[in-house]
Amino acid sequence: MTKTSDNLAAAFAGESQANRRYQAFAEQAEKDGFPQVAKLFRAAAHAEAIHAQNHLKALGEVKSTAENLQAAIDGENYEVVSMYPEFIKAAEEEAQKRAVTSFKWAYEVEMVHEALYRKAVEMLGKESLPQVDYYVCPFCGYTHEGPLEGRCPVCGTPGEKFTRMG
Ligand code: FE2
Ligand code: FE2
Ligand code: FE2
Repeated sequence: MTKTSDNLAAAFAGESQANRRYQAFAEQAEKDGFPQVAKLFRAAAHAEAIHAQNHLKALGEVKSTAENLQAAIDGENYEVVSMYPEFIKAAEEEAQKRAVTSFKWAYEVEMVHEALYRKAVEMLGKESLPQVDYYVCPFCGYTHEGPLEGRCPVCGTPGEKFTRMG
């Protein structure tokens, strides 16, 4: 690790966080009746996402799709096996209810992500890939292949509220 690669990694983390923070602030600005402020937050959020991706590319961390899938599997697996179980335990010990729910939802969904990425690795070798849209729960992020009948298995939201990702 050079100083610059450390700095790129730190800048990637910071810009990624700014992107999500501004997006959340934009939604709050809409609720508070400030649509113009919401627009500004959304525009800046988009710009921060571009900065984040530029930093990641400069780090050399965007590779072939096969390598990227493996990196994604490794990241999700770390969250499922190590990170979230520890975070959930600590949040329960400190009786931080909202944190417990937030960590548990993410934990459940990262397991699904890991499985979906593993499936995608198998599909890469196949000649004709099955075409399917993914549907995402707007509350917990549960990710489903195709439209979901019934309720989200993680948070109970009706499947018709899910966001279809093309
Ligand atoms: Fe930025
Ligand atoms: Fe994930
Ligand atoms: Fe959900």
